[in-house]
Amino acid sequence: MSGAVREQASAFAPASVGNVAIGFDILGFAIDTLGDRVTVSRRDAPGVEVSAVRGVAGELPREARDNTAGRALLALQEALHPSFGFRVEIDKGIPLGSGLGGSAASAVGAVVAANALLPQPLSRLELLQFAMAGEAVASGARHADNIAPSLFGGLVLTVGIDHPRVKQIPVPSGIRAVIVHPHMFLATAKARAILKLSVELSDFVWQTAHLAGFISGCYTDDLDLIRASFEDVVIEPQRAALIPGFQEVRRGAMEAGALGCSISGAGPSMFAWTLEGTVPAVLAAMRREFARQSLATDHWVVELASPGARLIE
Ligand code: HSE
Repeated sequence: MSGAVREQASAFAPASVGNVAIGFDILGFAIDTLGDRVTVSRRDAPGVEVSAVRGVAGELPREARDNTAGRALLALQEALHPSFGFRVEIDKGIPLGSGLGGSAASAVGAVVAANALLPQPLSRLELLQFAMAGEAVASGARHADNIAPSLFGGLVLTVGIDHPRVKQIPVPSGIRAVIVHPHMFLATAKARAILKLSVELSDFVWQTAHLAGFISGCYTDDLDLIRASFEDVVIEPQRAALIPGFQEVRRGAMEAGALGCSISGAGPSMFAWTLEGTVPAVLAAMRREFARQSLATDHWVVELASPGARLIE
């Protein structure tokens, strides 16, 4: 497929919840009402210039190789050798260190916008690799649990790193996601560095059972199976202490009727899945418990189906 030559394009890339409790580094869903906007322009000189970072995280690195959007575009250039360079402007809507996939969204927005400038645009699956290379700058590891939902939308499972397979998972239509962001900063690299490198055999069995049950429950509209499987026995217990009030927020959400509640990505944001009718009670409980920790919050309530990153005017 060939496209008309464009000088500039802008893309919106949504925030996302990585891990979704039981799919560490492989499962995530998009938060379509929150995101970053990235504008990419052609420039005659080769290379990548990050010319502006605005919005809620203006202190991000301007050096292209240290910036997730810049690094993603450098990876794209290394592979494709276009005859021109890229200038990038980033309007951050996603707070830094929030666990809402901000690093991934900037990288995704950059590759989607840059793709519109290429004479032979790539598929979303091809773009995924470049965005993953970008996000690795922030987290110190290559994983697609934020990149894939931001790029594709919805609840997304990614299998593999070098040749990833991406699968959008259907979610029962009555389920809503409630996401609450306490106003504190938590570096992804720090939240990864504390993790043990080995897993107890019994925990491995529970975690794989929960992942399988969760995915099966999604495909078969089995809310009871989703609820029973919505528990991370490996990662969450190690990270809980990094989030003030974690246990109380989780308990509050569950007592209010949530199907499950866990950490969004590396935290400190937390999320719950719940049926539409119990959204107000679950949201109120989560916000109340963070407030008891003297933490102000932002929140979003979204449906699970969403279109993913797209070009905007
Ligand atoms: N899966 C990642 C983690 C998400 O939990 O560390 C944050 O990048």
